[in-house]
This record gives sequence, structure tokens and C-alpha cells, in this order.
Amino acid sequence: MPYILDCEITSHQEVAPGHYRLVAHAPEIAAAAAAGQFCMLEVQEGFYPFLRRPMCFERIYPDSVSILYKIEGEGTRLLSRFTAGQSINIQGPLGKPFPLNGAYQRHIMVAGGIGIAPFPALAEAIIAQLGKTPEVIIAARNEDLLLCEDIFQQMGCKIHLATDDGSVGKKAFASEVLDALEPSKDSIVYCCGPMPMMKATHAVCQQRKIPCLASLEAEMACGDGVCLGCVVEANVEIEAERMVRVCCDGPVFDSTTIHWESY
Ligand SMILES: Cc1cc2nc3c(=O)[nH]c(=O)nc-3n(C[C@H](O)[C@H](O)[C@H](O)COP(=O)(O)OP(=O)(O)OC[C@H]3O[C@@H](n4cnc5c(N)ncnc54)[C@H](O)[C@@H]3O)c2cc1C
Ligand code: FES
Repeated sequence: MPYILDCEITSHQEVAPGHYRLVAHAPEIAAAAAAGQFCMLEVQEGFYPFLRRPMCFERIYPDSVSILYKIEGEGTRLLSRFTAGQSINIQGPLGKPFPLNGAYQRHIMVAGGIGIAPFPALAEAIIAQLGKTPEVIIAARNEDLLLCEDIFQQMGCKIHLATDDGSVGKKAFASEVLDALEPSKDSIVYCCGPMPMMKATHAVCQQRKIPCLASLEAEMACGDGVCLGCVVEANVEIEAERMVRVCCDGPVFDSTTIHWESY
């Protein structure tokens, strides 16, 4: 069962235009959480907005968790107004984490925009549990929106940057950068970001016959498998089983599970 706890915010800072990092003291949640899982944040006391907002764990520390988020609408705007010292209600951990498989030599993370959010925790887990140093492709619209480069540098990861405007790194899509790295059968890919970017990353992995784990997003109400508000279409013959729930069947899926043609 996930915890539902009031947690003290220990730090909350804008890290790029419209992007924030919130750290909360949450020892129980941190102890139970794994990379790829997420939590639901109550962004306002009272009834508006009614629904909690899902956010993955950026880092999992012994007694706290960090959340890296982008302002999208009203909920995240309200979230950005919380200050250090205030408490925030967190429900989690939820969902399935990234499975870790030590059989692969190359672990390549492919991130588009705020899709970078689950990867610092994943990189830490790969280093600590598999003894391998992952590579990361960080793609964003421009230089100002490239996130977490310093964190991956400190971990010793090989970093590949890509921007839409060419302001830094390659002027290329994340999937094109991945293809240029020539991943082969000793490689496994993890991706998170906009659906078209994950669809293109899945296509590269299919062509190269390598596994790809995709962390999906969907609008969520319950976060707990009940409301079916978060379903996505899967490649399943039986019609009744075709929709999978991002909140509890995912958010991490083997990319071959997803019916990408629908997106
Ligand atoms: C498992 C999971 C993990 C996530 N982790 C992160 C994270 O670490 N950092 C982060 O910045 N965001 C993350 N998101 C997305 C985040 O939950 C949404 O951006 C947020 O709920 C938007 O709330 P809002 O009230 O600000 O915007 P709203 O006013 O609710 O919506 C603004 C716009 O964003 C769209 N939108 C709303 N919710 C989602 C969603 N869940 N996915 C895609 N589009 C959405 C709406 O359709 C609308 O166009 C995650 C989503 C999921 C499902
Ligand atoms: S959010 Fe309710 S079933 Fe997934």
C-alpha cells in the first residue's frame, strides 16, 4: 500500500525557466520507492484543484525525495508557490519501477524535455545495483531547458546533448542521437518524454533489435488502478485487455507493449 503523508518541503527552487526542483522530507516513502515509480501530490489544500498531480521521483535519498517538474497548468502553478518549511501531502510510491537487468553492458537513457525527471534516480540505481555507468541523451528545445547535466556529470555518465535550435549539442532529435550511438545487442534503452519522441526511440530500438523501456505519462485521477482515467492502447489481440493503465500496469512499459500507431 502506498503511504499518504504530510511531508516537509526542505528545498524548492526554480532550476530553469518554468522548471522547479522540490525536495521533501519523506523517509517512509523514500525507503519504499524505486527509480521509475511516481507519487501523487496534493497541490492545494481544500477542493481545488480536486485531483492530485502525478510526479515521478527524480532522486531518492535515505530520508527524502526530489521532484523535478515543469509548469503546465493550474496545478503545477499552485505547486510552484509552496515554499521550504511548508508541508505537502504526498501519496506514494505508486506504479512499477524500471526493471534492472545486469545482462546488458550499455544502458542508454533517452530524455526529451521534462522527460529527464526519472533518470537521475535510474542512473543512481544502475550504478549502485548493476555496477555499470549509464549514458544519457538529454534533448530539449534550447540550451536553457537542458536539465540535470550537472547531476549526470557528477555520476560520471557519458552525456550527449541535443537541442531543437542547435544552441548546444547536436541539432537533432533524441532518437537520431540514439541511432548515431549505434546501440547493439549488448544495449538496453530507457526513454521518457513526449509521445512522438518515444515513438521514434521505439522505432530505432526495433530496427536495431534492442529492448526499450518507455516511461509513459497520462492524465490521472485515482493513481491507483480504479478509475481507468489513464489508459493507453496496448498491442493485445483480445479487445477486452487492449487498454493498459499507466498508473499501475506502468508507468514503465516494454515499448513493444504500446500500440504506437495510436499516438
Ligand atoms: C506517472 C507520471 C509521472 C509524471 N512525472 C512528472 C514529472 O516528474 N515532472 C513533470 O513536470 N511532470 C510529470 N508528469 C506530468 C504532470 O503530472 C502534469 O504535467 C501535471 O499533472 C499537469 O498538471 P497541471 O494542473 O499543471 O496542468 P493541467 O491544467 O491539468 O493541464 C495542462 C496541460 O497539460 C496536459 N496534462 C495534464 N496532465 C498531464 C499528464 N499527466 N501527462 C501529459 N499531459 C498532461 C493537459 O492535457 C493540458 O493540456 C507526470 C505524469 C505522470 C502520469
Ligand atoms: S489513474 Fe485511475 S486507473 Fe490509473
